[in-house]
Amino acid sequence: MYKRTEINFHNQVEYWMGVGALNEAASLLDRYANIYVLVDENTAKDCLPILQDKWPRIKDATVIDIVSGEDNKTLLTVDNIWFQLTRFQADRHSLLINLGGGVITDMGGFAAAAFKRGMKFVHVPTTLLAQVDAAIGGKTGVDFSGFKNHIGFFKDPEAVVIDPVFLQTLDERQWRSGLAEVMKYGLIMDEDLWRLIVDQPLENFSPAVFEEMIVRSVENKIKIVTEDSQETGMRKILNFGHTLGHALETFYLNTANPITHGEAVAAGMICESWISHKLTGLDFKSLAQIEGVINRFFARLNFTQEHIRGLLNLTRQDKKARDGKIRYSLLEKVGNSVFDVEVDDQLAEESLRYYIQKTNWTIDETVQN
Ligand SMILES: NC(=O)c1ccc[n+]([C@@H]2O[C@H](COP(=O)([O-])OP(=O)(O)OC[C@H]3O[C@@H](n4cnc5c(N)ncnc54)[C@H](O)[C@@H]3O)[C@@H](O)[C@H]2O)c1
Repeated sequence: MYKRTEINFHNQVEYWMGVGALNEAASLLDRYANIYVLVDENTAKDCLPILQDKWPRIKDATVIDIVSGEDNKTLLTVDNIWFQLTRFQADRHSLLINLGGGVITDMGGFAAAAFKRGMKFVHVPTTLLAQVDAAIGGKTGVDFSGFKNHIGFFKDPEAVVIDPVFLQTLDERQWRSGLAEVMKYGLIMDEDLWRLIVDQPLENFSPAVFEEMIVRSVENKIKIVTEDSQETGMRKILNFGHTLGHALETFYLNTANPITHGEAVAAGMICESWISHKLTGLDFKSLAQIEGVINRFFARLNFTQEHIRGLLNLTRQDKKARDGKIRYSLLEKVGNSVFDVEVDDQLAEESLRYYIQKTNWTIDETVQN
């Protein structure tokens, strides 16, 4: 299946998605004289040859190579990107192609948005997480002083080209990380997508199911960011699982064993489903099912009671916090969500305790009944 969507918000952003998207989008490059490609060592090895094969002009492009990983998503790395762009004489009419996961698309978008007050950029996301989430919606940025995405702009790319061909080399852990965001779309707004995941044993994810999950997720996100590009209203529902999820991600970023974004969000979705059960009417059977499905794909995180205070303090750094109050996006039921729900520290704390104590629902216990 191949599908092209063109949408409008702020600028016109073209989305090309599905198997064959790369072939179809090749003519994009005709608009630019100078092309630069941002890669890390993994996408240089696994993805750049594919891009060069589908888009032959890339063979002559300047490649800017950075070191992979969240701990390199910093102003220091951006400084290096700006240095390379300057050295190789990029100007405001050049194009930067961000070929990689969410770290590359966030940081490349940020670097391009600020370079000479804005050069054009295109995202070619290569992880499932970047394909269904990070590359869509115009959020760019870097981590700062231990805080996730602390510095950044809203800035749209010219186009996003989402081709599952890149996912073949993705390792299992990264694959699951993206799946957490797919689950989120199902839970907040698309019950059929949720059912697609519930009904599939992991080993049975066929390429067709996979493609359907990607296209549905992208369409869901586009629908939301088109209505609310600056996150003043309904875009906030995308934050389900992310208030506590980001706190967990930041907490683990500062340890010897960082976790993936999706692993953090998966745990965050369990906690925030529990809060939804207490506050916004999510029924117990759905809570148990959500927990069972998440447990099928994600190992339990090992934080303990003594970390809870620190985690709650981290939620205060959340960009969604206002006047010291933390507002969550929560579920009313599977496929329906609400945003701006004030949650006090005590309830957030109880949800983290719940996670620590009760993470052993199995899928059999939940979906069968
Ligand atoms: N802007 C947004 O709206 C938004 C939304 C969600 C997440 N994010 C950000 O995305 C980042 C996480 O993105 P991610 O999970 O893609 O991580 P990532 O970019 O670190 O990629 C994960 C790993 O996979 C490697 N990789 C990438 N593509 C590959 C491929 N096709 N084959 C083999 N290896 C490949 C990378 O080199 C890296 O080692 C976080 O920084 C998060 O804050 C942004």
